[in-house]
Amino acid sequence: MKINGVSYRTIWLAADGAGVEIIDQTRLPHEFVVITLRSSAEAEAAIREMWVRGAPLIGAAAAYGLALAAREDASDAGLAAAYQRLHATRPTAINLKWALDEMIAALTPLPVGERVAAAYARAAAICDADVAQNAALGEAGCAIIAALWEKKKAAGAERINLLTHCNAGWLATVDWGTALAPVYKAVEAGIPIHVWVDETRPRNQGASLTARELNWHGVPHTVIADNTGGHLMQHGMVDLVIVGTDRTTRDGDVCNKIGTYLKALAAKDNGVPFYVALPSPTIDWTIADGVREIPIEQRSTREQTHITGKAADGTLVEVQLSPDGSPAVNYGFDVTPARLITGLITERGVCPASREGLLGLFPERG
Ligand code: MRU
Repeated sequence: MKINGVSYRTIWLAADGAGVEIIDQTRLPHEFVVITLRSSAEAEAAIREMWVRGAPLIGAAAAYGLALAAREDASDAGLAAAYQRLHATRPTAINLKWALDEMIAALTPLPVGERVAAAYARAAAICDADVAQNAALGEAGCAIIAALWEKKKAAGAERINLLTHCNAGWLATVDWGTALAPVYKAVEAGIPIHVWVDETRPRNQGASLTARELNWHGVPHTVIADNTGGHLMQHGMVDLVIVGTDRTTRDGDVCNKIGTYLKALAAKDNGVPFYVALPSPTIDWTIADGVREIPIEQRSTREQTHITGKAADGTLVEVQLSPDGSPAVNYGFDVTPARLITGLITERGVCPASREGLLGLFPERG
C-alpha cells in the first residue's frame, strides 16, 4: 500500500535487524505513528491492546513476537512459555495459533544456537506468504466483481456498490487485505467501484481504518452507521457484500467482527451476494460448528461505553457515551452460518461455503 507515494507493509523489520516496526492502529485515522517492538512482552501488548489487529496481521505479529522471544530465551522451555503468553492475547483469530505453531515447528528441531536467525527467517516467510495469498485471493474476488460489473453496466449502472464490515483491508493483513484486496484489484482493472463502509461499533474499525485506507488509496467510499446496510439493500443500493473472517470452520461457518451475521441475514433476505475473503491460514480444520465451537472474545466494556476521537484542537480525546451505572457487554465477534454465505474467496479460487467446497480447493486436508 502506498501512503503519500511511499510503499508500506503493516509490519516490517527495524533497521537494526532485531526490532519489529508496526503502525499503531489505535492512533489512526488521525495520527500515523510507527512503534518499534523490542521484546516479546511488547509484541504481546501490541496484539492485546490492538496496536495491530486483523486476523492475518495478528498472526504475523505473533510470529515476530516469537522471534523476539527467541532472542530472550531460545530454549524449548523459553519458546513454550512465549507461545503460551502470545497465544493468550486474543482468542478468536485462528491465524494467531497457526503462526505460533508454524514457528515452533520450524524452531524446535534446530540447535538452540541456530534458532534466533531461523525465527526471523520464518516470521519473514509468514509475512511474504500472507502478501502472496491476499494478492491471489484479490484476483479471484476481482473476477466476481468484474462479472457483476458487466451485468450492471449493460443495465445502465454507473458503478458497483460493495458493502464491507469492520476492517479487512491492508491494515488487517501484511499487505493488500482480504475483503478489500478484490476492491484494490478492481480499481487497478478500471472497474468503477464504490464501498459502503460500516462504521463497526464499538471500536469503529470501519470508520477509522477502512475509511482511512480507502481514502489513502483514492477509492470512492461512504461511511455508514452499522444499521444502515439493510435499508441500502432493500433499495438496491448494494450489489455485493465482501467481509473478512477471523476463523472459518471446515464446514464453512465464518466468525468475523460482531454484526457480520446481521449483514448476512439482510443480504440473504434481499438476494444480495454475500462473500467472505480469506487466506487459508484462517481456516480451522479442527472444528465444524462455528456457533458452538469458536471462542468469542469479550473485550473491555469501556470500548462500548466510551469513544475516542479528535478534538477541535487536534488532540485525541476519549468521551463517555452511556451513563454511569448502566452495564454494558462487548462481544468482539459473531458467527455467520455457511448457509448464508454465497462463496468463500481464497488464494486458490472461490468455493461454496461447505466442507465439500473447501476440500475441493484444499484436497490435502481431506
Ligand atoms: O478486532 P479486530 O479489529 O482484530 O477484527 C478484525 C476483523 O474482524 C476482520 O474482519 C478479520 O480479522 C478479517 S481481516 C483480514
